[in-house]
Amino acid sequence: MSLGERAVARIDLGAIERNCARLPKPLCAVVKANGYGHGMGPVAEAALAGGAGWLAVATAQEAAELRAGGISSRVLVMGALTKDELGVALEADADVVAWTEEIAAAAPRVHVKLDTGMGRLGTKDRDLALRLAARPNAVGLMTHFATADERGDKLFDRQLSAFRRFVDDVGRDDVIVHAANSAAALRDPGSHFDMVRCGVAVYGLDPFQQDPAAHRLEPALSLHSWVASIRRLEGGEGVGYGHTWRAEKPTWLATVPIGYGDGWRRGLSNNADVLIRGRRHPSVGAVSMDNVTVALGADTDVEIGDEVVLIGRQGQEAILAEEVARRLGTINYEVTTGLLPRVRREPFR
Ligand SMILES: Cc1ncc(COP(=O)(O)O)c(C=O)c1O
Repeated sequence: MSLGERAVARIDLGAIERNCARLPKPLCAVVKANGYGHGMGPVAEAALAGGAGWLAVATAQEAAELRAGGISSRVLVMGALTKDELGVALEADADVVAWTEEIAAAAPRVHVKLDTGMGRLGTKDRDLALRLAARPNAVGLMTHFATADERGDKLFDRQLSAFRRFVDDVGRDDVIVHAANSAAALRDPGSHFDMVRCGVAVYGLDPFQQDPAAHRLEPALSLHSWVASIRRLEGGEGVGYGHTWRAEKPTWLATVPIGYGDGWRRGLSNNADVLIRGRRHPSVGAVSMDNVTVALGADTDVEIGDEVVLIGRQGQEAILAEEVARRLGTINYEVTTGLLPRVRREPFR
């Protein structure tokens, strides 16, 4: 990272490749929403290099972007499509998901989606789903789990049984049957069918919000900034908007040029650690649009220009996206996907 660059997300494509290699096959790697914030194009290529045979996106535009980037693998568009968007998806030679006669009639290759309990997309009408699945252009059967990440819950088993009954009733062996997201893929081989659709695990994030290492997954994203300014605060001096933090005693303070304008959320005010010189330091005061402030203690060897790691490893210390998510009361998905375009993505191998 060059000194003076405000904030960079480094993306370890080798980690993406290895994560894909460790996930069940056949694997459809989900790269929607800019590859969960990691940068869609490079991530897609790394996933394919790691053994993914398919890619899935949410929107037709994302499928078109993959094609424009030279991706030739099968691509599945999973989201709802307007007529115009369907045209874009077909132009990109993507498979689409169908749960209405209208879409099933309009696309050459559809994956029929049964809503077994997610209550979002897909049809709950089994007869309609069976009719759509009998069409020659039905190339896939799918469903999506609502609670695969909640171990031991009963809805997962009910959804799985309902889907299995549907697949048996369709009775075709020339279609690709797929249901499992990352949590299901890691939790239950019985949910794998002919393909798993993994997103979050591809990026080395834990669908269960614990340590991804437990599943031999390697986080691909690290978030870096730098110490742009250092000052000494006297006891009683406040910092940042609203002076939400005050030095109790004389303290060194670093200013780091990353803020909620980069997707480093304001909910992390007085509620995050960062790594400098391999040590944890508390983020103090309000996260502002462009800066955060970090307490360095009464004495410090930290200097202007030092690297700051907000997510990732430095020396023996690590801050996982799961930790940031816990502090924000959200999930790791939102932490990486929420990084804004002002943070440059720097893929490396
Ligand atoms: C239909 C569908 N399948 C698979 C996935 C991948 O889920 P995950 O990132 O939990 O593996 C998603 C993501 O939200 C999805 O919407």
